[in-house]
Amino acid sequence: MQLRPIDSIDTVACVGAGTIGGGWVAYFLARGLRVRVWDPSPVAAEKLSRLIETAWPALTRLGLADGADKDAWSIHTDLAEALDGAGFVQESAPEDLTMKQELLAGVARAAAEDVVISSSTSGYPMTDMAALAAEEGLADRLVVGHPFNPPYLIPLVEVVGGERTAPEAVDWAADWFRFIGKSVIKMDREVPGFIANRLQEALWREALHMVNEGEATVEQIDRAITDGPGLRWPIQGPMLTFALAGGEGGMAHMLDHFGPSLLSPWTRLDAPELTQQLRDAVVAGCDDEADGRSFQDLVTARDAAIIDIRRLVGELRSTLPGAVERDGTGAQSDGSAA
Ligand SMILES: NC(=O)c1ccc[n+]([C@@H]2O[C@H](COP(=O)([O-])OP(=O)(O)OC[C@H]3O[C@@H](n4cnc5c(N)ncnc54)[C@H](O)[C@@H]3O)[C@@H](O)[C@H]2O)c1
Repeated sequence: MQLRPIDSIDTVACVGAGTIGGGWVAYFLARGLRVRVWDPSPVAAEKLSRLIETAWPALTRLGLADGADKDAWSIHTDLAEALDGAGFVQESAPEDLTMKQELLAGVARAAAEDVVISSSTSGYPMTDMAALAAEEGLADRLVVGHPFNPPYLIPLVEVVGGERTAPEAVDWAADWFRFIGKSVIKMDREVPGFIANRLQEALWREALHMVNEGEATVEQIDRAITDGPGLRWPIQGPMLTFALAGGEGGMAHMLDHFGPSLLSPWTRLDAPELTQQLRDAVVAGCDDEADGRSFQDLVTARDAAIIDIRRLVGELRSTLPGAVERDGTGAQSDGSAA
């Protein structure tokens, strides 16, 4: 399979330009690319223009690529015309399986043969979305490139192919997103919801259960994360965070100590059986991630980050409109109990 050299691409196409597609357009423009857009809505151009105007100051603050031009986009009424000259396609149409199947088949028919086509889907496996394209032998360049809102600010893109996607196309997409400055997770297996949405969804569903059962209020749930674990996650994810909670014994001690709690009803999501194999895989993964840094190194890095993050969050809370001020005791600034 011959795919377009990444560094030769100066023009990309965005199919669907709502919240996510429009965010992609803004990001590509900031990377110095020209963008050709197809969206059937009669107000698409107007909305896109507003989205880019709103996003541009943030993108400017992040740093624009040489030659970046917020006006270097065009909107087209014909799909084939929009794809003409594009070296990469990002599809961000509504989350509707039948629509995605028809659209991706149409894009695969019209796009140049050496162009990779990526979908922003929040959770459909590419094998399902590519069903129609596969009947015509056109599914080998179709990949998932799942972003997070707003795609012009959040670095993560999850990349995964379907059963009919060529491995080279998945590799190409991962390289492409890295090339344009994204943080890429290349998945080897299709899982509905990918990785980040599954994690987010587990928390979201438990939160809804807690509100539904009167176990917690909406405000308590939000504060539980923003003033609790959320402060650690920007620097160390949930795995490394728990490894440090195991003290110098790390994740091995954490699992041996708290393993039995997995059977306690602390969440409505059942835990897998903590087999020796699972224990060893988690311990080894944390060791890999620590990459030779000692427990003390990791604690020092975490503590420094939490202090900086708390300071920044404190400043933001006092300046952002509608922000709730809190002091370190958890009381609200008006003196009411938290
Ligand atoms: N909103 C999010 O937080 C988020 C995050 C990650 C991924 N996604 C995924 O991104 C995709 C787009 O979601 P969104 O939130 O931007 O939706 P949206 O409703 O804001 O935008 C969808 C756009 O697609 C256009 N459209 C409708 N039919 C089309 C067609 N046949 N071909 C091309 N465009 C068409 C619409 O006019 C609209 O502008 C979905 O697959 C969604 O699951 C959304």
